Amino acid sequence: MSIEDQKKAAANAALRFVKSGVKMGLGTGSTANYFIEAMAQKVKEEKLEIECVPTSNATRQLAQSLGLKLVTLEEAPYLDITVDGADEFNPQFQLIKGGGGAMLREKLVASSSKFMVVIADESKKVQTLGKFSLPVEVSPFAVKATAWKMERAFVHLKLKPKMTLRSRNGQPFVTESGNPIIDCALDAIPEPEKLDGLLNNTPGVVETGLFINICGIVLMGTDKGVKEFKRG
Ligand code: 5RP
Repeated sequence: MSIEDQKKAAANAALRFVKSGVKMGLGTGSTANYFIEAMAQKVKEEKLEIECVPTSNATRQLAQSLGLKLVTLEEAPYLDITVDGADEFNPQFQLIKGGGGAMLREKLVASSSKFMVVIADESKKVQTLGKFSLPVEVSPFAVKATAWKMERAFVHLKLKPKMTLRSRNGQPFVTESGNPIIDCALDAIPEPEKLDGLLNNTPGVVETGLFINICGIVLMGTDKGVKEFKRG
């Protein structure tokens, strides 16, 4: 099964959470897009009443084009469930997200939900987080001043990242909240929770791509069907 088919299978498996009356957070990325497409079809066929909070402009546009009812997080601050992709997940249900740069809104939406379901292909499952560079969203007012303070946080945990200011098409990348992202190549993050705490205590850090104690279920597409992991 191709990676894309694994993503689709995981997305379809998450349809069981789509029920009338549910307030849903919609993630960002290619796997989330498969879910949104499948969900829109189910909502139409079964005439379900659902309100959705999108985590990015791209997701909003897709959901809108498929006729889903959208509300803002301000209008629906308590959500039932968020379905989103991930760049990595480990056995502790900790995630790295932000490959698409949407992690601030993704974290705000997922953490406002009773539970978060991650849908992913097999390549996203790791024993230790960190092969994927950790994105850290920072204030544009203090990029360099934030970077050296982040370095201190990394040194505290004996980590030596290669930090790169994200660019796209030769231009500095800024998130939909107007902030740059520093991608931190680490190889391994042995203590994700500690690192997240230290980085979030660093002035200038807006949000990290580490999702700790947020994800409750992972649905992973594999060649042998969809595997479900549930946090105990
Ligand atoms: C965007 C994200 C995405 O969920 C993550 O990058 C996975 O994307 P894809 O489903 O395309 O592999 O965190 O900020």
